[in-house]
Amino acid sequence: MKVALVTGGATGIGAACCRALSQAGLAVGIHHRTSAAAARALQEELGESAFLVGADLSSTEGVDAVYEAMRQRGGLEVLVNNAGATVDAPLFSARLEDFDRIVATNMRSTWYLTKRLARLMMRQRSGRIINISSVVGSTGNPGQSVYGMTKAAIDNFTRTAAAELADYGILVNAVAPGFIETAMTRVLPDEIREGILARVPLKRMGTPEEVAALVRFLALEASYCTGTTFHVNGGMYGG
Ligand SMILES: NC(=O)c1ccc[n+]([C@@H]2O[C@H](COP(=O)([O-])OP(=O)(O)OC[C@H]3O[C@@H](n4cnc5c(N)ncnc54)[C@H](OP(=O)(O)O)[C@@H]3O)[C@@H](O)[C@H]2O)c1
Repeated sequence: MKVALVTGGATGIGAACCRALSQAGLAVGIHHRTSAAAARALQEELGESAFLVGADLSSTEGVDAVYEAMRQRGGLEVLVNNAGATVDAPLFSARLEDFDRIVATNMRSTWYLTKRLARLMMRQRSGRIINISSVVGSTGNPGQSVYGMTKAAIDNFTRTAAAELADYGILVNAVAPGFIETAMTRVLPDEIREGILARVPLKRMGTPEEVAALVRFLALEASYCTGTTFHVNGGMYGG
């Protein structure tokens, strides 16, 4: 049975990716940090092949623990780097400690986890890595200078990792969601939400399942796509 690992797999887009990959027959590792109860409930829903991996990915030790867990399982075929966080503040009032936390959570964790787990894929000479970026990494967004910067970095990293890992049969792509109904966007004030929807030709937010369908395609069907950021945003930005 092929093994997948989805970081931040207990909630939102990550949970939808776990469901989609599990339904496709993979043994899915549900990574979580604080959402342990949600992770256990999802594991129960997905059945025996699903397993849990807990870690704070902004720390070196957390990533090393995930590497060790996957090494002991004998490797992995699909890595979805989905864990991420945002802090919304205009540039003039944004705080340096938030910058460091968001960079560690979004950027450093993606780079370091990929660096470590790619070794396992290189040994087996196959693998699929999907990095969850954001439309904001391409467009920018007022109040999201730090978040947008980290997501642009993930798009760039995707292109370099794809070039470096192609010889090993590893495809690396990014999926950049627009505005998707999850805990991250549920907190948006009504006027911001309406402002966003005015920029979306399909006039609604997306669902986690609509993002997961693209992740599933890249994980299991795509064979000639690598180094690309795929947008899923209801038409607000075409790339
Ligand atoms: N929703 C959107 O509109 C949207 C749009 C574009 C991109 N995205 C991206 O999609 C991804 C998933 O977000 P979501 O919308 O599904 O929101 P979410 O439900 O808040 O998911 C974020 C996940 O990241 C994990 N996480 C956060 N900090 C972590 C850390 N230090 N170590 C390990 N895990 C950590 C959380 O795990 P725990 O809960 O276990 O702590 C959580 O499962 C993120 O990368 C986000 O930037 C979302």
